[in-house]
Amino acid sequence: MIEKKQAGEYAVRYIKEGMTIGLGTGSTVAYTIEKIGALVQQGLSIKGVATSVETEKKAAEFGIPLISFNEAEKIDLTIDGADEIDPQFNGIKGGGGALFREKLVALASDQVLWVADHAKLVQRIGNVPLPVEAASFGWMHTGKLLQDLNLKPVLRKTGEGHPYYTDNGNVIFDLNTGPVENPEAMAAEIIQIPGVIEHGLFLRHPDTVITGVNGSVVIRD
Ligand code: 5RP
Repeated sequence: MIEKKQAGEYAVRYIKEGMTIGLGTGSTVAYTIEKIGALVQQGLSIKGVATSVETEKKAAEFGIPLISFNEAEKIDLTIDGADEIDPQFNGIKGGGGALFREKLVALASDQVLWVADHAKLVQRIGNVPLPVEAASFGWMHTGKLLQDLNLKPVLRKTGEGHPYYTDNGNVIFDLNTGPVENPEAMAAEIIQIPGVIEHGLFLRHPDTVITGVNGSVVIRD
């Protein structure tokens, strides 16, 4: 999609020589990774920290030097996608199942940049399912606790109908919340369930959002 490509590629302008870059996951940031790879071939020296196995493979394919999250003393900039973004920069992430690593890497970053197509901008988040990563041990019980909160959880499955497992060996529940009136309250409610590892609510999160629209990009800080 051209809007994803525009936003994804534009993001490399924020990269400076010597930086350690958090590499998000998804189809938009895939364009960023490809572009970073081209810059590395031209001599740019950076290190990447991948937020998923998928991103790790893509970055390796494009020749980006990678270090593990533990090896990174600090992360200068993380570039990632999002599933929905409201005007206060609250977002839903995790459509690609990488929300836990994405959140850890983003929280360790000096600067966070989101890249997305224009359609991801909404007045109120919650029209897309809200992913929640949960421990595979006893997932049915965790699902019941989410249901008790009326959060309408659906266990994510593979195309073959098996439970979908994240890179961390956990399952994902997609919550059909509908528009979320109070994201902070919902985040607090979900995270208090012991089987929950992390949720895809990223609250007042990025420093900058770059969206592709009509052959151009819009930058919001
Ligand atoms: C993965 C994510 C992605 O960043 C999000 O789903 C957006 O993906 P895409 O750029 O393919 O629309 O959170 O866990």
